[in-house]
Amino acid sequence: MLEAGVDPVAIETFAHYYRLLEHGETGMVPEATIEPVDIESLADVEVPDDVAADAIGRTVAIKLNGGLGTSMGMDRAKSLLCVRRGLSFLDIIARQALHLRQRYDARLPLLLMNSFRTSADTLHALARYEDLAVEGLPLEFLQNKEPKLLTADLTPASWPKDPDLEWCPPGHGDLYTALRGSGLLDRLIEQGYRYVFVSNSDNLGAVPDPRVAGWFAASGAPFAIEAVRRTASDRKGGHFARRRADGRIVLRETAQTLPEDREALADLDRHRFTSTNNLWFDLHAMKAVLDERDGILGLPLIRNVKHLDPADPDSPEVVQIETAMGAAIEVFDGARLIEVGRDRFIPVKTTNDLLVLRSDVYEIGDDFALTQVASGVPYVDLDPGFYRTINEFDKRFPDGEPLLSRSTSLRIRGDWTFGRGVQVVGAVELDGRGAQRVAPGEVLAGSDD
Ligand code: UTP
Repeated sequence: MLEAGVDPVAIETFAHYYRLLEHGETGMVPEATIEPVDIESLADVEVPDDVAADAIGRTVAIKLNGGLGTSMGMDRAKSLLCVRRGLSFLDIIARQALHLRQRYDARLPLLLMNSFRTSADTLHALARYEDLAVEGLPLEFLQNKEPKLLTADLTPASWPKDPDLEWCPPGHGDLYTALRGSGLLDRLIEQGYRYVFVSNSDNLGAVPDPRVAGWFAASGAPFAIEAVRRTASDRKGGHFARRRADGRIVLRETAQTLPEDREALADLDRHRFTSTNNLWFDLHAMKAVLDERDGILGLPLIRNVKHLDPADPDSPEVVQIETAMGAAIEVFDGARLIEVGRDRFIPVKTTNDLLVLRSDVYEIGDDFALTQVASGVPYVDLDPGFYRTINEFDKRFPDGEPLLSRSTSLRIRGDWTFGRGVQVVGAVELDGRGAQRVAPGEVLAGSDD
């Protein structure tokens, strides 16, 4: 089963989580053990320009790019998708970094954490940026891979017709294991870097911002996460809290919440902040903690149940053992949170999000950062029967997405194909049976709310 060249610590890490899985570990965080957390806001923080420039000069940017976008029916990195004008997520990420390097005269290496499934495509797509790799450093490092386990008996699944599908990446919590195992953690320290900024490649708001770098450096904290205020649509999602027992900050996910605590979880006045997955850490502090624990951080286990072949509902049900990068906040004494604006959190998890991103709600500036030009971000809800996967979605917008900057919401039920330059104004609902068309240039005007 095991392949030559696999990091022994990665195997130990897998064994550690496998034991937890076998013992039915659930990682529940009862409400009685936590309390709400108060945090400072970036908007109120003074960061002198020289502090920001110095901090970004010692920062490395890592993009998590190992996921496969299975929620959007993809089996490749989501970041290969086009956002606009022939620019993919990866193009924009590369150009954001190149722009900052020039503006701040910073080395600012960009490292992609790829998985065995995303590496080749990603490197191919980035090959045209000849100056992107910084001297002495690669452009990527690879995540580990682990066997998918049959839910029936927790043995490794076998799938001779496509053996690649027997394996999966172990979630983005693998970042720490992969960084250390690849030798990059030590190399970055040797080369004089001090801070790491990590974010999802599907969040184009996650620019390695010198102001946040300056705040982090001045805080002296070992680890920090950028948080945003939860809104009604985050009600069911995870949040930050403080653990009563040791005062540490924890990230409680929905799956770690007991049924009797669901009400508290949904209370947006009590638990006000959720994670952007934009995270900062001090390389020295990370190395010290990892070395002290023989490379195993011991993050909460996530039991992710899927079909072995995501495209085949008849394939066996498997468990993928995963951990989440942000959960590492509980490992560090003195870890911090900082509230940032929604402009740093523009994740694309579904084709609903992609529609907004591709529309005129955002503009991309000379610095390749996204600016929201519409007064609000419309709520989009496309019929999952016709728009869930990227292929279905693209078929229904063959000549481009509608203009959404004047819309408050767009809800589609049924199968609607859009002509070029459709404009949506106000709150619009489309409903209908059979294939329908919205004519080119049509203005769909709904109510104002
Ligand atoms: P998500 O789990 O939200 O996105 O990961 P995904 O994996 O791309 O999509 P689904 O769930 O299969 O639809 C958030 C970020 O973490 C990366 C992803 O590439 C994304 O940028 N990621 C996720 C990894 O790098 N490795 C992993 O093992 C999992």
